Amino acid sequence: MRNIIMTIAIGMILSSCSGGKGEVYKDPSAPVKDRVEDLLSRMTLEEKVGQMNQFVGVEHIKANSAVMKEEDLKNNTANAFYPGFTEKDIEEWTGQGLIGSFLHVLTLKEANYLQSFAMKSRLQIPVIFGIDAIHGNANAPDNTVYPTNINLACSFDTVMARRIARETAKEMRAMNMHWTFNPNVEVARDARWGRVGETYGEDPYLVTQIGVQTVKGYQQNLDSPEDVLACIKHFVGGSQPINGTNGSPTDLSERTLREVFFPPFKAGVDAGAMSLMTAHNELNGIPCHENEWLMTEVLRGEWKFPGFVVSDWMDIEHIHDLHATAPNLKEAFYQSIMAGMDMHMHGIHWNEMVTELVKEGRIPESRIDESVRRILEVKFRLGLFENPYADEEQSMKIRLCPEHRQTALEAARNGIVLLKNEGILPLDAFKYKRVLVTGINADDQNILGDWSAPEKPENVTTILEGLQQVAPGVKFDFVDQGWDPRNMDPKKVAEAAARARNADLNIVVAGEYMMRFRWTERTDGEDTDRSDISLVGLQNELIEKVAASGKPTILVLVNGRPLGVQWAATHLPAIVEAWAPGMYGGQAVAEILYGKVNPSAKLAITIPQSVGQLQMIYNHKPSQYFHPYAAYQPSTPLYPFGHGLSYTTYKYEDLKLTETEISKDGSVGVSLKVTNTGDRDGVEIVQLYIRDTYSCVTRPVKELKDFARIALKAGESKVVNFIITPDKLAFYDKKMKWGVEPGEFIVMAGPSSADEVLLKETFTVK
Ligand code: BGC
Repeated sequence: MRNIIMTIAIGMILSSCSGGKGEVYKDPSAPVKDRVEDLLSRMTLEEKVGQMNQFVGVEHIKANSAVMKEEDLKNNTANAFYPGFTEKDIEEWTGQGLIGSFLHVLTLKEANYLQSFAMKSRLQIPVIFGIDAIHGNANAPDNTVYPTNINLACSFDTVMARRIARETAKEMRAMNMHWTFNPNVEVARDARWGRVGETYGEDPYLVTQIGVQTVKGYQQNLDSPEDVLACIKHFVGGSQPINGTNGSPTDLSERTLREVFFPPFKAGVDAGAMSLMTAHNELNGIPCHENEWLMTEVLRGEWKFPGFVVSDWMDIEHIHDLHATAPNLKEAFYQSIMAGMDMHMHGIHWNEMVTELVKEGRIPESRIDESVRRILEVKFRLGLFENPYADEEQSMKIRLCPEHRQTALEAARNGIVLLKNEGILPLDAFKYKRVLVTGINADDQNILGDWSAPEKPENVTTILEGLQQVAPGVKFDFVDQGWDPRNMDPKKVAEAAARARNADLNIVVAGEYMMRFRWTERTDGEDTDRSDISLVGLQNELIEKVAASGKPTILVLVNGRPLGVQWAATHLPAIVEAWAPGMYGGQAVAEILYGKVNPSAKLAITIPQSVGQLQMIYNHKPSQYFHPYAAYQPSTPLYPFGHGLSYTTYKYEDLKLTETEISKDGSVGVSLKVTNTGDRDGVEIVQLYIRDTYSCVTRPVKELKDFARIALKAGESKVVNFIITPDKLAFYDKKMKWGVEPGEFIVMAGPSSADEVLLKETFTVK
């Protein structure tokens, strides 16, 4: 097999160097535009339509056709097969140049194998392999698994975001994968939604900053053999679903779209993202997959997006079979393409129906050409024509290399949030010699999070393993509660409660279950939405019974969505929110518990008290709590956006503005002094918020406009500077005109969004 590939590869390279028979598209020195036009002019309609279509890989089909029923296909967004269409058909179609892309190909061997068919096709147009490399290329085994996006966001570390994306790109290319369906730049505003963990949280500014660096890390200029294509997704609004469930309708005003949901997408386009995925959901009555306003007017018209739009999983089909705005599948394809869709994820009917639509004169061939141009441009820029394969021998030198593992560890250390600490942390290994560890996430690979496959045990440090490594002098007693929060054994709970009495301290590692290989059994992740946000199963009982031992009990959470752990927040002395901290998450958690690492992360999303509080966001409008909930129910969150503790203390003072009055196009400099007043070195995330005091339309009570991650040695002070530029003050007025309005603005700076910890100053725009 390898020999065949090498022969094809060498043949390919020779012919491409010569650019034989005037074939400009095979000449790597020719401008990309010329190559695209030359190739397009040689393509049949069928080949063009094929470039716009994606298929799941052969191994994926084999695995699923054995276990899946046809009726499941409509509702499953992770697994598929094509009834009546075999792996042989896939190979043949690829060999005839009728498939432009594959997804869910999980091994280099299969990627090279499928590519070898494309290389036999008439025009030898390589396929582009797409994969959900959301936090590392974790869906495919033997790759570095970084912390999930929400954990990364809590680090507020844009440099780390870029580094992770860069390393992921290298590992992907080492597997012949060229396109990641990330970053997910949706602004998450509903904790019931199972996909919160794959977002960068609730704040448009933070999501934008992390999203932009992620795009840049993946793509660079899209012209090196280590670059991959980024995909900003899902456009748009699905992160505020009406009932919290994935893909349910969204009803959002244009103002909310433009102020909250669009900015990270627009910034992603400006950062160079060359692909975008539309959202499952309908938006204000129109499915996103047939939404001309979104795909054509806003994306291409206003933002000048030059890349291609890909549909989400079977969502063009859902225009017909779910949303029912097209009477049949062919009509759904028609509507989607005419609204601006470029590539279909995924399936067998596209080629025939779309070709017919063109032949019938309903879709102009020029419209097809537009899409194919965009797709080919990316393939040329990524160098796929010159490098259609990846080398198996080189692959494992790059994947999981020590440098990447180190990044995964450092990122986990930076993203774990210390929510509560009444002085018990960091743990004293001499005082607490016997420690009971229990809970569903104590010794499980679930720390890898959604979009990860099970890894080899030696590639993962579970939390229990981390504790044993970091505190070798401590005697850890472990009561296994199994992985499944929904099926916990009351006897095991009782056993933990009993053994807690013999311990000096207890650590309960609770949370959600997210691994997608147990698709229907998990409690968090894609398509795993919940109607409440408390701990599932016997986990509360476990915590309460263990704590009833009278021994100090601390809680570590592993989850994607915020959890309203009210009882623990009131009764336990310490809570650590680890999210899904990745392959070395167990080590990072243990290092934080034992004080080898001083925690620095801050919440990128509000933790509500309960599901009934939703929507609970920090940047709400002024009237949100004019009439709070009845007196016995809180109207405040459990933990606010931006909150996160450290083992040292910081003093904020001397907030100064360079101006007290500016013109509409003027800027204001902000400075403040932050001092590490404790006895440990630390990293502090300094946050800058703004409020427009009076405005012609209602404005949020505060909005994050900047932040800085600063390292401060014990006793050290630093002056932090920000600049408030006009774009940070502007908003859409009553007529939806974007601009800065005269009046007073309040500048707030501090360690979290909580009002009481913020320093405040004002300035006026004349
Ligand atoms: C998800 C996308 C993902 C795609 C391919 C869909 O179900 O919504 O985010 O990229 O599947 O795996």
